[in-house]
Amino acid sequence: MSKLWGGRFTKDTNKLVEQETASISFDQKLANEDIQGSIAHVKMLSTTGTVSEEEALTIIDGLKSVQKKLEQGALTYSIEHEDIHMNIEKFLIDEIGPLGGKLHTGRSRNDQVATDMHLYLKKHTEEIIELVHATQSAILKISSDHVDTILPGYTHLQRAQPISFAHHLLAYFWMLQRDKERFIDSLKRTSGSPLGAGALAGTTFPINRHQVADELGFDYVYPNSMDAVSDRDFILEFMSAASIMMMHISRLSEELVIWSSQEFQFIELDDSFCTGSSIMPQKKNPDVPELLRAKTGRVYGNLIGLLTVLKGLPLAYNKDMQEDKEGMFDTVETLEASLMMLAPMIETMNVKKENMKQAVSEDYSNATDIADYLVTKGVPFRQSHEIIGKIVLYGIDNGKYLLDLSIEEYKKFSDFFEEDIYDVLAPEQVVANRRSYGGTSQDQVREQLKLAKKTLSS
Ligand code: ARG
Repeated sequence: MSKLWGGRFTKDTNKLVEQETASISFDQKLANEDIQGSIAHVKMLSTTGTVSEEEALTIIDGLKSVQKKLEQGALTYSIEHEDIHMNIEKFLIDEIGPLGGKLHTGRSRNDQVATDMHLYLKKHTEEIIELVHATQSAILKISSDHVDTILPGYTHLQRAQPISFAHHLLAYFWMLQRDKERFIDSLKRTSGSPLGAGALAGTTFPINRHQVADELGFDYVYPNSMDAVSDRDFILEFMSAASIMMMHISRLSEELVIWSSQEFQFIELDDSFCTGSSIMPQKKNPDVPELLRAKTGRVYGNLIGLLTVLKGLPLAYNKDMQEDKEGMFDTVETLEASLMMLAPMIETMNVKKENMKQAVSEDYSNATDIADYLVTKGVPFRQSHEIIGKIVLYGIDNGKYLLDLSIEEYKKFSDFFEEDIYDVLAPEQVVANRRSYGGTSQDQVREQLKLAKKTLSS
């Protein structure tokens, strides 16, 4: 009976059970965090007198050598030892002998695994915050070049009002800003140390949880040992923030797909972010934004999966909680890869300004501006809306856009029309006139860019 917990058992574990209950195939991603946590724990055991200084040094050296051997691929994990915690403990005992068995004094795998997960998620949340930041700066960079690039703005995917392309892109800058703030805020909860909670009730050993927390870079210690080993809401919070961010990324991706279609031709993605078709030689497919859009599904799935795992669990640890890992790893890896592709894809896309401009000159997206024009002449907006609706209908029937109609044609609909109507109809002017705070006028967008730059550097 070579299990680390084998003392109470008289039979071997069923082979299938052994295989299915083991988590080593995936929790080996926590090896570094597990060793880091163990080193902090044993240091504390020595300062509090539970193990001697010499024993602690031997254990720490042993752990470091296990870590090195793992990095070199010189050790093989086994499902017999179930998970990363017991595999490492076994490696340690093989390395330094029975003294390695002292490492687990005053702790349980329950506080150990929770600690590993906090350490892992803290590190990756910090990395993701950096990546979001880099994506925002890519958006900012391209926005600065396109304040004066005008394209149709849409509602219901119908042309609505012309806008500055920078304004459109900056909308995503602010979404990502809020996403980043959500991740930053979540770090407050990820920075708690569960170590020293024991299995659920604390320990009889004279441990110092604060020392361990300091050593590991945590900001505080969970005040309740049962909460410490049962809490997975720091992961849920991360996954929620991740889901919201992926939803934003998915919306942007959808726009990139639409804009690069033959029908729109507003942008062209760089060849390095597209793939071809095995049968149709002419195709250049926007696979990257399509995949980003689709990856949103697994990120949502991971969130719902973990919420469901946790919802019926009595305190404290239950084996169900082992199911928290793959979804967390997958969310982290999906997010990191998505952000790493998104920023360069945006930076390298070719913006087809001329096509955008052509689009706004061949539509009725300046209709609101004539309605506003009549309002400035004293016509109530509702009445003006009705008049312009009729003009648009007249234009459609006669194959003319609003700029093509003569003043005589305008006057047929209202005596208030004068020559100055043409001054408000040019797309550049239509955009320039939306000067309200946060609006699309070139001046406002320049102000917005300043604010975005300031926000990013603060
Ligand atoms: N592999 C386990 C997990 O990931 C570690 C904790 C096991 N604790 C226990 N009491 N069986 O959740």
